[in-house]
Amino acid sequence: MPADRPYVVAHLAVSLDGATTGFPIDVGAYYALVPTWKEDVTLTGADTILAQEGALDAHGPGPSPDGPLLAVVDSRSRVHSWSALRGCGLWRRVVAVRSEQSEPDPDVVALVAGHERVDLAAALAVLGDDGAATVRVDSGGQLVRALLEDGLVDELSLLVHPCLAGTEALGGAVPPWTTDRRADLGLISQEQYADGLVWLRYHVRHEGELP
Ligand SMILES: NC(=O)c1ccc[n+]([C@@H]2O[C@H](COP(=O)([O-])OP(=O)(O)OC[C@H]3O[C@@H](n4cnc5c(N)ncnc54)[C@H](OP(=O)(O)O)[C@@H]3O)[C@@H](O)[C@H]2O)c1
Repeated sequence: MPADRPYVVAHLAVSLDGATTGFPIDVGAYYALVPTWKEDVTLTGADTILAQEGALDAHGPGPSPDGPLLAVVDSRSRVHSWSALRGCGLWRRVVAVRSEQSEPDPDVVALVAGHERVDLAAALAVLGDDGAATVRVDSGGQLVRALLEDGLVDELSLLVHPCLAGTEALGGAVPPWTTDRRADLGLISQEQYADGLVWLRYHVRHEGELP
């Protein structure tokens, strides 16, 4: 684990050509793997929450005392479903990760890191100081990409679906999660399932780290 922040794993459902949306995701298989990391924090972005807001139950079972913390990166204060997120039974607590310039929202506790946009490294450091050892990133393209760009991902977990999503999915509203920055990966494990899904786990080598 890095000294100055928690261990960060990005768990992504991808098509063989790397899309994160625009193809039928095996949601059951994706979430069945989530307990692997026993995450302290689920880190997600505003767009991932906004994409599922319609499906959130306003009368859920309430917070889950043994669940992780949900931290939602939301510099522009676009998320408003805080009460439904708190009550949906998946997380023990919910915080908005904001910057100093974000509009305040009395309906949610804010973790402030960064001036204009959220400073992801600083936000992870705060989560670490709060006792988090493992953070699982649940995001489409943007947040994973930004974390990879900043060298803040330690593990990439890819649930590869047996399909090519095509250029429309890859060039669509959700930008690719891959970055311009080269990254060396070390295979942690591989598993194949009967329906053609392949689960690949890679350690992301940081600069200066030996293979
Ligand atoms: N295939 C999968 O495994 C998977 C998993 C989760 C979600 N999804 C799908 O992916 C789609 C959403 O994905 P997305 O990537 O567009 O949204 P996202 O994961 O919500 O990421 C967007 C968030 O990242 C923040 N961000 C981006 N770059 C940043 C940077 N450099 N510094 C700080 N913050 C930064 C944005 O900040 P601002 O607040 O400033 O805009 C925004 O809050 C949805 O359709 C969802 O269903 C797929």
